[in-house]
Amino acid sequence: MPTNTPTRDEAMALLKQYNSSERAIKHALAVEAVMRYFARKAGEDEEKWGIIGLIHDIDYEQFPDQHCQKAKEILTEHNWPEEYIRAVVSHGWGLFNDVEPISLMEKTLYAVDELTGLIAAVALVRPSKSVMDLTAKSVKKKWKDKSFAAGVNRSVIEKGAEMLGVDLSDLITDTIMAMREVADEIGLAGNTSSQQNTTGN
Ligand SMILES: [Fe+2]
Ligand SMILES: [Fe+2]
Repeated sequence: MPTNTPTRDEAMALLKQYNSSERAIKHALAVEAVMRYFARKAGEDEEKWGIIGLIHDIDYEQFPDQHCQKAKEILTEHNWPEEYIRAVVSHGWGLFNDVEPISLMEKTLYAVDELTGLIAAVALVRPSKSVMDLTAKSVKKKWKDKSFAAGVNRSVIEKGAEMLGVDLSDLITDTIMAMREVADEIGLAGNTSSQQNTTGN
């Protein structure tokens, strides 16, 4: 069967078919935005990178024990191109499978996935509850505090930065900049807008 290059709308519909939690959708949107940012930076295909970011955890809500494997089945059923499927599966390298990230797109997804979670967690404990005024320095401060956002695997992020050959602080800064682009959609714009709404009363 010929493969079908998915549109962003198709990817979103498929994501919502398998995910109902707001948390899952917000994570998908955050990773999509970061993938788009890095694709632009590298002069790569922004739409493709974004769609892969959006869909990467499609199976996690329903099949956490078969993470990435189920995603492969679902995307294969929908005739997604092999390149997209491999990229999705490779974000689980070392934890869920042995499909190593090889392309720049795969390495980027691997490096930023967990990082978006840590950045979101750090933003939410700030007075502003926002990524708009967040810096890499604040994220680095929480790096060694293993009890903070304990579910975030720091070593995966470090390994990802190493694979990309980038400095960890630069990776964090770029990821924050990318998340700012969708701050409203992912619930990390803080209380700035609501404050503005109440002025003039
Ligand atoms: Fe995942
Ligand atoms: Fe993820």
